[in-house]
Amino acid sequence: MPHKRHTQFRKPDGGLYAEELFSTEGFSNDYTLLYRIYEPTRIIRCEEPVNDMPRVAEEKMLKHRSLEGFNVKPEDDFLKSRKAVLVNGDCHIVLAAPRKSMTDYFFKNADADEMIFVHEGTGVLTTCYGELRFGYGDYIVIPRGTTYQVSFDTDNNRLFIVESFHPIRYPKRYMSKYGQLMEHAPFCERDIRVPENLKAIDQKGDFLIKNRKKGLLYNVHYETHPFDVVGWDGCCYPYVFSIHDFEPITGRVHQPPPVHQTFETDAYVVCSFVPRLYDYHPQAIPAPYNHSNIDSDEVLYYVDGDFMSRKHVTRGMINLHPAGIPHGPHPGAVERSIGAKETKELAVMVDTFRPLQLTEEALEIENQGYVMSWAE
Ligand SMILES: [Fe+2]
Repeated sequence: MPHKRHTQFRKPDGGLYAEELFSTEGFSNDYTLLYRIYEPTRIIRCEEPVNDMPRVAEEKMLKHRSLEGFNVKPEDDFLKSRKAVLVNGDCHIVLAAPRKSMTDYFFKNADADEMIFVHEGTGVLTTCYGELRFGYGDYIVIPRGTTYQVSFDTDNNRLFIVESFHPIRYPKRYMSKYGQLMEHAPFCERDIRVPENLKAIDQKGDFLIKNRKKGLLYNVHYETHPFDVVGWDGCCYPYVFSIHDFEPITGRVHQPPPVHQTFETDAYVVCSFVPRLYDYHPQAIPAPYNHSNIDSDEVLYYVDGDFMSRKHVTRGMINLHPAGIPHGPHPGAVERSIGAKETKELAVMVDTFRPLQLTEEALEIENQGYVMSWAE
């Protein structure tokens, strides 16, 4: 890396490395400077775009819903395997069961940051920043516009993905004014894994990047390999945070959902429910109270463990409790929870501030009658 940015940085043969600024919010927020063997602009062919919009089946509704997430059919191809189930103008909630690694193309989501929660499977996410190994319980956060390739070691992979049209960040209340995670945060910088093993690939040929932009998929062919970066620095890059590194905040009486918060955006929050000790007031009720969160739709993705407030829960299930009507523990769950010392539950919650719509894929995997499951 040259001592000064925007100065000459030469290859062993005397030619210049190509500097690339990867910036956010125009040039007014975090950015990264990358040094490439070749310019990232060498397009050799563009194909006609293809439609890649989710197919919305129910635009408006007011009912508790339950989806059997593991009933989403596995597909060989990574992009084809992604099925948007709940969507709005702020985010798409996607389930995927890809069987094979991406080998003949790269993917870039030019619209959305991506949060890929790995429920089952292990592998490596490769970008021009290096490699991120991932496995069970990892949140992989990929800034929009990052070109990536996913390689799996496994073929029975299960992913819960949020495509976010707003930048994904840590909760503001956990950040110092200069951007450090503070002492009261349930995780810290040491828990965050950054790209490693940077390998600059010097190759010419025909490299296909599938770019998603405004619901269309554009196949753009480049002359040089997209991972030809010899060095980079800056604050915009993909990273991994494991749900197993989230340190739960507990109390004498029931703590509200924000204690589980892991990420935030301007339009929704992400919470991690992890194994923890229950409330320790002698009269405490560990089960949650009934609640009317009138300003947000609540999406709960069940990962593992026991789920004390619900009956009939399966791994990979999504329950959607829409804003406007209250929800709470199933009959008997409150009484049953009294005296319990700990929970092994593992779940990811996404609360959106605007209502979600259900897609055709969601209706195909719906558990009917969930809305009536509280009646005795
Ligand atoms: Fe809730």
